[in-house]
Amino acid sequence: MTTDTLVRDPASTVPLSQMDVSDPKLFQSDTIGSYFARLRREDPVHYCPESAYGPYWSVTKFKDIMQVEVNHQTFSSEAKLGGIALQDMQSGEASLELEMFIAMDPPKHDAQRKAVSPVVAPSNLVLLEPIIRERAGLILDSLPIGEEIDWVDRVSIELTTMTLATLFDFPWEERRKLTRWSDVATATPETGVVSSFEQRREELLECAQYFKGLWDQRVNEPPKSDLISMMVHSPATRDMPYLEFLGNLILLIVGGNDTTRNSISGGVLALNQNPAEYRKLMADPGLIPKMIPEIIRWQTPLTHMRRTALMDAEIGGRKIRKGDKVVMWYLSGNRDDEVIDRPNEFIIDRPNSRHHLSFGFGVHRCMGNRVAELQLRIIWEEILKRFSKVEVVGAPERTLSNFIRGFTHLPVKLHAH
Ligand code: HEM
Repeated sequence: MTTDTLVRDPASTVPLSQMDVSDPKLFQSDTIGSYFARLRREDPVHYCPESAYGPYWSVTKFKDIMQVEVNHQTFSSEAKLGGIALQDMQSGEASLELEMFIAMDPPKHDAQRKAVSPVVAPSNLVLLEPIIRERAGLILDSLPIGEEIDWVDRVSIELTTMTLATLFDFPWEERRKLTRWSDVATATPETGVVSSFEQRREELLECAQYFKGLWDQRVNEPPKSDLISMMVHSPATRDMPYLEFLGNLILLIVGGNDTTRNSISGGVLALNQNPAEYRKLMADPGLIPKMIPEIIRWQTPLTHMRRTALMDAEIGGRKIRKGDKVVMWYLSGNRDDEVIDRPNEFIIDRPNSRHHLSFGFGVHRCMGNRVAELQLRIIWEEILKRFSKVEVVGAPERTLSNFIRGFTHLPVKLHAH
């Protein structure tokens, strides 16, 4: 690095004591990486005394993040303490009063997770695979060759929405409602998706009413293998208070939507930015299963999860006080060269490519990881059958968020074989 870049790079000039990595603009401009690199080097467990989200700790190294993840007795996910993101879940105008098991501690968490997890069990995924493949094929076959299109809207959103609609057995023609509710659930007014917290609340109420209708319908039908039917009939969830039912549905919508969507887009961008890797893939499509976890590491579609300390604790030699907000920056842990070899390179045949933090770890480790990998594997298998290249032809536009790491537009042109 030259002296010139050192002077101009704000990540290296801001005093550590004032370093606040929560600004969504740093993620939208994709400049956050150098801030995390500096924290990993100089202050891996970093305290920020003042931010738009109040004081918080940043945990930036892979091993320290794991230490927090496995210790749910000390580091809580409970919604009433603030929940799982920098933005407190149940505070002031942002409050939704929704309950979901991602924001619960054991034992309640475990019972609810157990009730809905069969929908993503390997036996169900085997049934899901041909449906997703057929739908992926239809989406790709409908795309024009040689014309500029928005990959985010035409492929990433469409495919993940279709999969979700299948998991929920959601009315097919109305499936884009799922996309909207997913966007709204994680939105704040500054993202532009909603203009106020009031609007968010109203739209989610509409979502609640819609699902209430589906619940009422399925409660009178014999049990089936879709998620709503499972929740309606399972002893662990059937007497769930209404806000909890809604919360868990929203969790499944959001969990399955933004994350996979942005990994599909992120993979296209990563391959375009690394043409040698794209050539490697074209020469050997058998590399797809290895490439998928690398795409998910590279993209890290959820930048962080947050915990609240239930007691005094220590991470990386720093003293955490009871009540402190602790943010595990997966995006940073996934670039930690103490654990990942050449972490800043996108390597599609990376050995041990599953060793990443994008799905979290511990009791809350992503429940839908196999569904996500399945969708990504299928879409890439179907892409390679049809196109010699998905070429990125303009600058990607990124999401304004410190939680979701994704894209709003990705202009591409398709080339036939
Ligand atoms: C939890 C990431 C896809 C459903 C999580 C967590 C992360 C994550 C980071 C929290 C882990 C923790 O706190 O330790 C991702 C990524 C995905 C993805 C990167 C795609 C690439 C999906 C899909 C579904 C899903 C497709 C549903 C079909 C869930 C659920 C939880 C969860 C239900 C809560 C688990 C719990 O609290 O026990 N996910 N996810 N996710 N995810 Fe995913």
